[in-house]
Amino acid sequence: MPAEPIHLSVTDAYDRWSRFYDTYDNPMVAAATRIVAQGLGGVQGASVFEFGCGTGRNLSALLAMGAARVTGCDLSIGMLEQARQRDARFELMQHDMTQPLPLESQSFDLALFCLSLEHVGDLEPPLREAGRLLKPSGRIAILEIHPFLSLSGVAAHFQDGSEEIRMPAYPHQFAAYCNTCARLGLRIEFCREWRPCDFQPPLTDKSFKRGSQSPLLLELQLRS
Ligand SMILES: C[S@@+](CC[C@H](N)C(=O)[O-])C[C@H]1O[C@@H](n2cnc3c(N)ncnc32)[C@H](O)[C@@H]1O
Repeated sequence: MPAEPIHLSVTDAYDRWSRFYDTYDNPMVAAATRIVAQGLGGVQGASVFEFGCGTGRNLSALLAMGAARVTGCDLSIGMLEQARQRDARFELMQHDMTQPLPLESQSFDLALFCLSLEHVGDLEPPLREAGRLLKPSGRIAILEIHPFLSLSGVAAHFQDGSEEIRMPAYPHQFAAYCNTCARLGLRIEFCREWRPCDFQPPLTDKSFKRGSQSPLLLELQLRS
């Protein structure tokens, strides 16, 4: 009989995952990596803030694509340590994205959430803070596990040797994204539901577990 999963807090889970997060075969991370690599609508010269930046994978890609300044917050010291070792140019802070950030309003061109909002029960506090940080011409990019999947129980987890580690995750309905944006005065400028068949070259076999047409990730681009 398979062993019962071990349930850890978000911080403890990511501290443990941080050592091998970047090399783990995770279809959501692989798909998000490809989408970020396409530039999220352009980042040349941009100042970027990532909520839940983890090991800094996205910050690194954005710098390579021409972002002028990349800043990130994360709850997990382990993930932040990996990010620090990756690139000294990252501006990093240990911070809970549900709380106000000690940063000036209107100071970023792009605020990014990539696979991090699933760990937050209420979308409103982090999205309000993202809206506050944006310059008037700025935008918010969201890349999260598609609601069809998260509502059917798909959530961040990993295998560490013989142990399966799970952590708190909150599936968000489309309505929660739409209503939160409406309450905060954020306009949904672009929405895309990324399916395995949308990626060339193809993602790994794991991504096709639910078929090539079943959406993996939701992308939203928001403006004030
Ligand atoms: C699946 S990882 C994604 C990391 C990174 N965005 C990426 O795409 O590789 C989720 C990250 O969100 C962070 N996180 C979860 N809840 C958070 C919170 N309330 N505040 C800040 N970071 C949080 C976790 O520590 C973890 O590093």
